Amino acid sequence: MPPVLAFRDVARSYRTAGGELPVLRGISGEVPAGRAVAITGRSGSGKSTLLHLAAGIDAPDSGEVLLLGRSLGRLSDRDRTLARREGIGLVFQFFHLLPHLTAEENVLVPALVAGDPPGPARARARSLLARVGLGGRGGDPVQKLSGGEMQRVALCRALLRRPTLLLADEPTGNLDEASGQVVMELLLEVAREEGSALVYVTHSRELAAAADEVWTLHAGRLEAARSGGAAPVAG
Ligand SMILES: Nc1ncnc2c1ncn2[C@@H]1O[C@H](COP(=O)(O)OP(=O)(O)OP(=O)(O)O)[C@@H](O)[C@H]1O
Ligand SMILES: [Mg+2]
Repeated sequence: MPPVLAFRDVARSYRTAGGELPVLRGISGEVPAGRAVAITGRSGSGKSTLLHLAAGIDAPDSGEVLLLGRSLGRLSDRDRTLARREGIGLVFQFFHLLPHLTAEENVLVPALVAGDPPGPARARARSLLARVGLGGRGGDPVQKLSGGEMQRVALCRALLRRPTLLLADEPTGNLDEASGQVVMELLLEVAREEGSALVYVTHSRELAAAADEVWTLHAGRLEAARSGGAAPVAG
């Protein structure tokens, strides 16, 4: 089986007012099924850029991003959208929920977009909300929930369609330490239970250490280390 996600010598630069800015200079790495990888690095080191490439939201200047062995750049726009919809769940720092909809309606949005049968989708949404401790809150407008609760709703939404890959960009970045800790534990536990590979960006060494593997971005390159050991991993 091919890895869920693979980067092959990926480079990406941006045109800025000050000239060409090389952000990623040749990134290679693989995320096998069911594994959790934390991406760390300084602000501006390219963490979000790398996650956007993984999600197919952005495309590399050179190199390849492969989802389950399929190169995203070689797919048509339509097939790329489908691959993303079928294979990837996304969690963002600022939740990106629809404030006036209920928690359950927010979780159901991906099923509506994909045209899934509503009955099973609703049952799945309810069981996910119960799993993250929000069983009683499904009918409340999300704007009434706390930040940590909103992020748990966003996690359920990302997992609704059983993605093989869950991507999270600073999922605890907008939460206080205690609720951030709860969200991070749930993210890791539920991804593991569901069999989704997980790639999350975090500034926190402590939260990164909970992953199976830590990738650190520095000067456009990746320094990989397994959690709990300093052995470098060949990219
Ligand atoms: N669309 C763009 N146009 C120009 N420059 C960009 C664009 N997107 C990102 N950059 C630049 O690329 C660099 C990497 O940005 P990126 O958002 O990936 O960093 P990051 O590691 O996620 O930072 P942070 O920890 O602050 O979120 C930054 O210098 C940023 O200004
Ligand atoms: Mg970022």
